[in-house]
Amino acid sequence: ASDHSLAGRHALVTAGPTVEPLDPVRFLSNHSSGKQGYAIAAALAARGAKVTLISGPVTLSVPAGVVCVKVQTAREMLGVCEAALPAEIAVCTAAVSDWRAKAAAQGKIKKTSEGPPVLELVENPDILATLCRLANRPKLIVGFAAETDDVLDNAVAKRQRKGCDWLVANDVRRGVFGADRNLVSLITETGIETWPEMDKSQVAGKLAQRISDVFVSSIP
Ligand code: C5P
Repeated sequence: ASDHSLAGRHALVTAGPTVEPLDPVRFLSNHSSGKQGYAIAAALAARGAKVTLISGPVTLSVPAGVVCVKVQTAREMLGVCEAALPAEIAVCTAAVSDWRAKAAAQGKIKKTSEGPPVLELVENPDILATLCRLANRPKLIVGFAAETDDVLDNAVAKRQRKGCDWLVANDVRRGVFGADRNLVSLITETGIETWPEMDKSQVAGKLAQRISDVFVSSIP
């Protein structure tokens, strides 16, 4: 039997890296396969949600029933998220570049005898934190955090700092980048649950189930 527990709900999912140009041929970016975010988009759509997937460049195909908007930069990603509102749910899995070039060079930066160029960087907007502070904020906002040390302490602090409802802490000590399996803990307002290592598609299914529980039980 098909699950329509999220029918009528709109979910935003950010996924993949952002790419910040330095000049026409070079960029600043992050490692991100997009696999976990795409799997979450698929799992929410499978429960009947209308899903807008806002994705940086990845090589994955768009899951069935999902509307995907491809972007390059953090500022584009934020702009598309804001334009796609209202939504009841936002899941921010994107590996957003913390910085961009203050001004991308118009032409290719040349190698000269004066040595390497000095790059002036400026901070990118924090998409997750921005969504959390909007007047028309999605009711349930889920952030992700890739951590290598003090995973849970850092993740609990990050949930507070960003202002999101839930935070999925990713233990990246064991090379989850590009992998098919993931080891996560879910931090909510009521506590911390560590899930066994499982496929990213299973993490997505379990998270989508938890999200639909919230909407079925308490939110009109
Ligand atoms: O601070 P950190 O980058 O570890 O936070 C990770 C969480 O914040 C993820 O959910 C990520 O998608 C989101 N994020 C964002 N915009 C940024 C930086 C991070 O949405 N500029």
